[in-house]
Amino acid sequence: MANAKRVGILTSGGDAPGMNAAIRACARMAAYLGIQCFGIKRGYDGLIAGEIFPLGPRDVSDTIQRGGTILRTARSADFLTPEGFERACEMVKNFKLDCVIVIGGNGSLTGAIELTRAGVPLLGLPGTIDNDLPFTDFTIGFDTAVNTALSAIGNVRDTSASHERTTIIEVMGRECGDIALYSGITGGAEIILVPEEPVDIADICGRLLDGRNKGKMSSIIIKAEGVDIDANALDAEITKKTGLDVKVVVLGYVQRGGAPTAFDRLLASRLGSKAIELCRDGVYGKALGVRKGEIVWDDLEAAMAMPKKSAEELIALSKTLVV
Ligand code: F6P
Repeated sequence: MANAKRVGILTSGGDAPGMNAAIRACARMAAYLGIQCFGIKRGYDGLIAGEIFPLGPRDVSDTIQRGGTILRTARSADFLTPEGFERACEMVKNFKLDCVIVIGGNGSLTGAIELTRAGVPLLGLPGTIDNDLPFTDFTIGFDTAVNTALSAIGNVRDTSASHERTTIIEVMGRECGDIALYSGITGGAEIILVPEEPVDIADICGRLLDGRNKGKMSSIIIKAEGVDIDANALDAEITKKTGLDVKVVVLGYVQRGGAPTAFDRLLASRLGSKAIELCRDGVYGKALGVRKGEIVWDDLEAAMAMPKKSAEELIALSKTLVV
């Protein structure tokens, strides 16, 4: 494949803190290597609409510390239609882009597979707070989301302890319990519920009452949103079966914003600059990730088909540290 002279960047799906650091790294590394860089607005929607503009090194000044994405993002419905998809492919040719760098999560990179099958040279970067991509140990935005959730857990723990209550805190994570596990274990939660494990109400109630008998007058339950019981329904079940005073806090979108942590900024900077180096070398059709601390890249389709990371160790840990 030809070495890239013109590269487009888009962010797609749910935003994630650190996406700006990745965009910045792409734009700056491209300038460093003499490659022309273009921003594409609103993910695949902007690609279809041809909202594509030059992105120079000064255009990304003062962005490394900002959450969200300066390119904006969307979950594009048009891209899923044959007409929209075709138009997206045409735009890559019209704007003479030698490669498109897609920064996004599961849905966005699944869409990217279709583009590569249609012959579009492309690279995928993992950008999602969920940490649910199989080819990388960590996704851009995950660490920040965990720390945001952790800070909220600390606040809730104070009031929960004062009132001797049980508080259910719902964190994001549709199919992956990593935000719940990382924030729950580090926040000292008594019970962590993740989509990887079925919910057992009797077990939850038993553990809460057992805790009371051992002198634990307040408890924190962290529940990932993807767990197949709603937080309020869980509250009702626990209240009915134990008589405990239960409150619910749904953290929601606060987890998606805020200044990225040093970890996310560094990860995004490494991934973005490596992607541009691959463009320089004419290497396309890859997903980039980090495994055991090293930046790695695999064929996009094979990367997305890798087996899910196991949550077993952390699930077990979450149960042993709460005796
Ligand atoms: O994919 C990241 C994520 O934040 C999930 O945790 C959550 O379920 C979803 O996005 C929410 O998506 P939307 O922004 O479309 O409401």
